[in-house]
Amino acid sequence: MIEIDKLTKLFEEKADAAGLTSELEQLRVEFLGKKGYIAEQMANLRNVEADRKKEVGQKINEVKQFIEDAIQKRFAEMLAAEEQRLIDKTEAYDESFPIDTETGSYHPITLVQREVEDIFRSMGFSVEDYSEVTDDFNCFEALNIPKHHPARDMQDTYYLSTGQLLKTHTSAAQNTILRKYSADLEKGLPLRAVFPSRCFRNEKIDACHENTFFQMEGMMVDRDISISNLIYFMKTMLSEVFQRDVTVRLRPGFFPFVEPGFELDIQCLICGGDGCPSCKDSGWLELCPCGMIHPNVLTAGGVDPEKYTGFAFGLGLTRLAMMRYGIKDIRVFNSCNLKSLSQFTDRTFNTSEKED
Ligand code: DAH
Repeated sequence: MIEIDKLTKLFEEKADAAGLTSELEQLRVEFLGKKGYIAEQMANLRNVEADRKKEVGQKINEVKQFIEDAIQKRFAEMLAAEEQRLIDKTEAYDESFPIDTETGSYHPITLVQREVEDIFRSMGFSVEDYSEVTDDFNCFEALNIPKHHPARDMQDTYYLSTGQLLKTHTSAAQNTILRKYSADLEKGLPLRAVFPSRCFRNEKIDACHENTFFQMEGMMVDRDISISNLIYFMKTMLSEVFQRDVTVRLRPGFFPFVEPGFELDIQCLICGGDGCPSCKDSGWLELCPCGMIHPNVLTAGGVDPEKYTGFAFGLGLTRLAMMRYGIKDIRVFNSCNLKSLSQFTDRTFNTSEKED
């Protein structure tokens, strides 16, 4: 058996020779393991004379502690040396060299939404934010769509177990906005607000339909707002959005919350009117249904229809994003395919090859 005093020296010699962490681990077993030198010394304690037991025991513990500390220290040194080796190896590192890392990007619909929000802000609109979860009153009743009204069939609704529902259209916030600003109207301040949101409908999904899509609702209410205001505003707003004169057409459209109601179509910017899957081969895209707010809707929102009139519109943000980026299949937006979704960042509105 090695004498306790010589153990420290032996360890130091072996530790100096160890160049790898695995060798260090071997040393740990050799000295501190169950059958190692220290365990051997401990076992031998019983043969030591009673009056020296305490002293020898302490000595063994000191040596044990020394070896433990030394191993830990040596281990840290080895890791640091390894790190330095790696740094030295990458000496040629060039900070200006473009690294192929995955950076995040905004979703194309977010980009379009922000752009359109800015346009509306510049026209004096406030941008409001509302929850995607609403209730029957806001989504239907307050919009002049009572229970059992056939118009409810136009929107196949997802109901929640709480009795609430997922908003089928951004019009669902009209009542809240009217209430929020009705007092301002009385003070002579016109109501101009847009409120974007994700909407949900139980739709059969194909290249042009999704069960989750985005709209931006807008409302303008004041004294003496007429259809000519509506038409002028829609034209100005859309030419701002597309940054050129777009070809639009108005068709009569029925929506219980507007009277009269219109369907505003825009010539498909993807195919230039020739027909493609995005426009169902018609050359036109339904972009912005609109109309004069129904007196019942104003009343439900606490606004006197005898004093005030207004128009409302529901801009299809998802459609807009398809045109903006020339996306032919609506399913791309919910695909979670980062490769597809991150490529749109800095493209401009697709004005098609047919542009004059
Ligand atoms: N909320 C309707 C829908 O999603 C769209 C709509 C139509 C909104 C006419 C309006 C409007 O503001 O005036 O089907």
